[in-house]
Amino acid sequence: MRIEKQRYTERFGSVKINDVQKVLELDSGMRARLTLKEAIALDKIAGRRAKLALKEAIAVDKIEEGVIKDYEKKMAIVIPIKNEKLQLFEGVISGVPHECLIIVVSNSERKEADRFEMERDTLEQFCRFAQRQALIMHQKNPALALALAQAGYTDLLDEVGETVRDGKSEGMVIGLLMAMLARKEYVGFVDADNYFPGAVWEYVKCYAAGFSISRSPYAMVRILWRYKPKLSGQIYFKKWGRVSGTTNKCFNSLISAKTGFETDIIKTANAGEHAMSVRLAEILPFASGYAVEPQELVSLFEDFSGVLPTANQRAARDGIEIFQIESRNPHFHEERGTAHLREMLLQGLGTVYHSLLCDEETKRMIIRELLAQRALKRGEEPAKPNINRPPQKVNIKSFIDFMAERVDSYSALKG
Ligand code: GDP
Ligand code: CO
Repeated sequence: MRIEKQRYTERFGSVKINDVQKVLELDSGMRARLTLKEAIALDKIAGRRAKLALKEAIAVDKIEEGVIKDYEKKMAIVIPIKNEKLQLFEGVISGVPHECLIIVVSNSERKEADRFEMERDTLEQFCRFAQRQALIMHQKNPALALALAQAGYTDLLDEVGETVRDGKSEGMVIGLLMAMLARKEYVGFVDADNYFPGAVWEYVKCYAAGFSISRSPYAMVRILWRYKPKLSGQIYFKKWGRVSGTTNKCFNSLISAKTGFETDIIKTANAGEHAMSVRLAEILPFASGYAVEPQELVSLFEDFSGVLPTANQRAARDGIEIFQIESRNPHFHEERGTAHLREMLLQGLGTVYHSLLCDEETKRMIIRELLAQRALKRGEEPAKPNINRPPQKVNIKSFIDFMAERVDSYSALKG
């Protein structure tokens, strides 16, 4: 794969935010066999070719297939799912590169039609034919709640404390903990409502590419789609959605106010398709519901920008690297209507609004935007997000030990 090199990076304390890097070529061919030195030693023509390759390296990163596969081996792909069409789910799992461990966390209905059972069947069949491992569990499984309670991670449980709360974010955190159980070093998230398996495949390649160029063990890759097509009579390849455009603007306003330099560096505030090193995930708080992706950024800024007390000295020393990689495949997923979009906007902007870093000007901007897009009534404020503590604050080992004993019942390819 070839992607643009990091050409522009903004630093916010220990957080390095890289500007968008485009995917230039999905498949970059065979491994270059000669180094520059070897080539010059062999002959001049080859030397010239190698020099050209070196020139390319100034603007372009070529990430070899083998390197990508090495990262995929160390990566779990978590798929949160709630009542999606089975055909979509089947397509999504078929797009996850073979070396990755698939972890499905489902909150689908288990009434007359047991959708979870159908998902499990589909996954099991896939694993049998593709000869691969996967884990699948239901978010409301009582054993899961018990394991979390034992680990002291009651943040994820409902008031009664017997089941995990609803929410995509809660599903993501469970997937993350299961990735730790499987001793993975990276965890990537992919929604189950993706229409194109090829896009899923590319997202994972982008995750691997990002991790391979990161110099810090604390790394995050967020996907920006080249297009997000809309259907209204005919297809239109739209680039920016209203929710993402607005959320990015408010994030940039917050950073600009703090640094005194206007910026537009944040382009993936809402990126559902994103991945991080487990080292980073461990120290990150996760907000409930649709606030989760924007809150990750807010938390990183709060904990590591140096404006507030630093949350983790080690991570601050190594630095936190955020990559924003633009995929080639358009993003096409289930459309859920205006009410859903308003809710996403409201929850996303709530994270910025309630951040300790947020200035009055940005707060006014947020209220203005929410009123204009009818996500809020006059005189109201966005609700404060519910933030779950970082996994590191609880007894992860206790969770892992508890679940490890039962892992066979979650495994899609047994034995
Ligand atoms: P959007 O793509 O950001 O508009 O959000 P979606 O509504 O498509 O949700 C993203 C993903 O999370 C989809 O795969 C959903 O099926 C899944 N999802 C939504 N709610 C839940 C939940 O409560 N639990 C789990 N595990 N997954 C969920
Ligand atoms: Co979606």
